[in-house]
Amino acid sequence: MQQNTLWYGADYNPEQWLDRPDILEQDIELMRKAHVNLVSLGIFSWTCLEPREGEFHMDWLAEAIDRLYAAGVCVDLATPSAARPAWLAQKYPQVRRVNADRVRQLYGERENHCYTSPVYREKVRRIDQELARRFGRHPAVVLWHISNEFNGECHCELCQQAFRDWLRARYGSLEAINRAWNTRFWSHEYTDFSQIESPAPHGERAMCGLLLDWKRFVSHQTVDFMKWERDSVREIVPEAKVCVNLMDRFDGFDHFEMAREIDVASWDSYPFWHRPGDTIEKTAISCAMMHDLMYSLKDRPFLMMENTPSFVNWHGVCKSKKPGVNLMTGLQAVAHGADGVLYFQWRQSRGACEKFHGAVVGHDGREDHRVFREAAQLGDVLRRIGRVAGARKKKQAAIVFDYDNLWALDRSMGPRNDGHGLWEEVERHYAALARLGVGADFLPPDGDPHGYALVIVPMLYLMREDLAGRLRAFVQGGGTLVVTMWSGVVDEHDLCYLGDAPHGLTDVLGVRRTEIVPMYDGETLRCVAAGGFPIAEAKAEALCEIAAPEGATPLMVYDEDYMKGAPAVARHAFGAGQAYYLAARFDEGFYLPFYRGLCKGRLAPAWPEPLPEGVLAVRRGAYVFLQNLSDAPVQLSQAALTPLETAIFEDDGSGAYKRLL
Ligand code: GAL
Repeated sequence: MQQNTLWYGADYNPEQWLDRPDILEQDIELMRKAHVNLVSLGIFSWTCLEPREGEFHMDWLAEAIDRLYAAGVCVDLATPSAARPAWLAQKYPQVRRVNADRVRQLYGERENHCYTSPVYREKVRRIDQELARRFGRHPAVVLWHISNEFNGECHCELCQQAFRDWLRARYGSLEAINRAWNTRFWSHEYTDFSQIESPAPHGERAMCGLLLDWKRFVSHQTVDFMKWERDSVREIVPEAKVCVNLMDRFDGFDHFEMAREIDVASWDSYPFWHRPGDTIEKTAISCAMMHDLMYSLKDRPFLMMENTPSFVNWHGVCKSKKPGVNLMTGLQAVAHGADGVLYFQWRQSRGACEKFHGAVVGHDGREDHRVFREAAQLGDVLRRIGRVAGARKKKQAAIVFDYDNLWALDRSMGPRNDGHGLWEEVERHYAALARLGVGADFLPPDGDPHGYALVIVPMLYLMREDLAGRLRAFVQGGGTLVVTMWSGVVDEHDLCYLGDAPHGLTDVLGVRRTEIVPMYDGETLRCVAAGGFPIAEAKAEALCEIAAPEGATPLMVYDEDYMKGAPAVARHAFGAGQAYYLAARFDEGFYLPFYRGLCKGRLAPAWPEPLPEGVLAVRRGAYVFLQNLSDAPVQLSQAALTPLETAIFEDDGSGAYKRLL
């Protein structure tokens, strides 16, 4: 978006302070001191912009934009569709969502409109276009923030009809739907489209194919609504750049599908810092995983659109970030590809449910507050390292992630209904790569593994035939593939593949699944090294597969119960590459040595020397970020790092690292 500038700012709500003109004045002064250069405006401003139907009041926003811009602050202008005025909900009940139990919601809260309602779409288009006409060409407006955190689903009659139309377009005939959903089961065959209903607690919950297609439809409808808003703006300002703010591990729509339709990916990051039992490093890695997913969505820099400078108001216990953590998290986002770091929120509200949410400026309005001082410090650092903006990441390892698979696993009955733990599974692989300083991208199911040295396929229960083909070609061509348990079980309709499994990959992996053994929480199976494998022992948990080797070399085997002797980890040479099979989820200690062995000689770590525990290195283009997330100082060959300190180096290609920070 802008060269040599990292964005820094926050959600800003001047509409909450219209009766206090001194506050806008003070905010602009404080933003200058904190080195803010971008604010998201208007996210929840609809009633101030259109207090009565068709009556637009935009002068207050014009004044705010003009004054901010004069002070060097650009604007990420929001469409206000996430929260609607009461007059609108009252006059047009169809805009209010109907829950799965078929009860229409009352007016209240936010992010709860029907995505199908033509009335809502029309009202949104009107206000979006008024905004675009008035501000779309203002030099301050560098980005459009479409709505806010799209989420949820509606089951009204309009949505039911849209679902049926979507199915008709996807399948062509009822016959095809009946086949895809295996509706002969329990005599559920449909004879007319009008019989198809969305899932309901008092209705359909058993047809996995229908449940999966409903999720796909909701995803489609959410993206379609976003496109409606985007195109409303672009009709007036064709060059408008749009973003949406996404959420942590959110499953409400396919993020890759959404990303295709936007210019910039962004997300709202609210990790649980300082939770007893979790190290800073663990929390940071879990957060980094989402950064890397966001980067992967468009394979280019993203924004951390929201994070708190201190605490949220909605965790069980709303702990504040301790000194130094805010600086560290801001720089961590940049290390992983963020071109901007923004907060929710600039100034703390006085009332309603977010009055105790952290903000850069608190109720006391003071700049000598720790939170403000630390925010200003980060602003200063980002200003100094602006040259990092735009830097791209090199392809190293990829983790295949498919939202269809997540939805299908969530809705499958058995083999383990106490949580399949897909995110946990993904995180264990990711964390090991992060600790090794190896960059990881997320690859959608239609993505191309070409260009990666290592591809990981964690629990890909729903495996599309074409993907299996691409993975096979990848190994054949010399790639290294890791496939875990419970992969290649069903096709895209959630129909079980018939024949040997993991479907499409048995010859690549050199194993054939014979049983899947679900484990109770806390239950484990001991595994031991076979041959000279360097990991002597590991514990298998959650889901443990038993497989018959068909050419693969067991590297570890189960060492107890009736699966004793069956491969827990196996390797198979296929074409010019190698395929690894992990029969179970293992204890966290397994993954680091496993991936260290795999990466050695194949993937260069971000930092050339071995790093002590708690120190993470991330490479972004020519820049290497080193962060000491341990609670002790560390001494490296080129840097001494205090706890929570970040060092940034620029690699000029000669092997010499110049320290920028
Ligand atoms: C986000 C939301 C913001 C604010 C924030 C509080 O999910 O987009 O508007 O509510 O949470 O943490």
